[in-house]
Amino acid sequence: MAALYVALIHGPVLNKRGDRITTATTGLSVHDIARATATFGGAGFFLVTPLTSQQALVERMTRHWQYGSGAGYNPNRKVALEFVQWADTLQTAVAQVQQAEGQMPQLVATSAKPVANVPAVEYAELGQQLAAEDGLPTLLLLGTGWGLPADTMVQMDAVLPPIFGASDYNHLSVRSAAAIILDRLRGK
Ligand SMILES: C[S@@+](CC[C@H](N)C(=O)[O-])C[C@H]1O[C@@H](n2cnc3c(N)ncnc32)[C@H](O)[C@@H]1O
Repeated sequence: MAALYVALIHGPVLNKRGDRITTATTGLSVHDIARATATFGGAGFFLVTPLTSQQALVERMTRHWQYGSGAGYNPNRKVALEFVQWADTLQTAVAQVQQAEGQMPQLVATSAKPVANVPAVEYAELGQQLAAEDGLPTLLLLGTGWGLPADTMVQMDAVLPPIFGASDYNHLSVRSAAAIILDRLRGK
């Protein structure tokens, strides 16, 4: 089975006007995506933020549930939060995966909208790649704010198609999107 890592990008992302911004980390996203990562056999979950205050917040949160009073109170949460680490940039997260896995990960983006100029990969196809013994380590990118900027998208090896259900509305929270995507890639 190939190693699957998740990166939640807090910066740079887009705001409503299309400006590049950094969004705040949220406890909800840290906990929910960590649990999804653990459930679907992920190897790690990066919070990507250039802000040192936000990096410190992630560390404080994970320390509380790994070593503080939270560890004894909720051991399931402790397990999930062991997957969490922060990185200041996407490049740092990629370098950390490369160091852990001994090879460069392929970068796969997600988006609620179709993305031009990046090769598309179907969920079933990526799921098969991930199931292969010699599959490439993969870093799956999730956006915040109004999503990932174009200059991040062009660095991607592939992008997954937007998730749709039974309506035209598909603006999922990043936490719901993460769980659905991981289930499509690694669910039984
Ligand atoms: C743009 S952010 C919005 C985040 C929102 N502020 C929140 O806290 O959930 C949502 C991210 O979730 C993922 N996402 C949301 N809806 C999606 C969909 N329909 N298909 C694929 N990915 C989706 C993408 O990674 C997207 O960048």
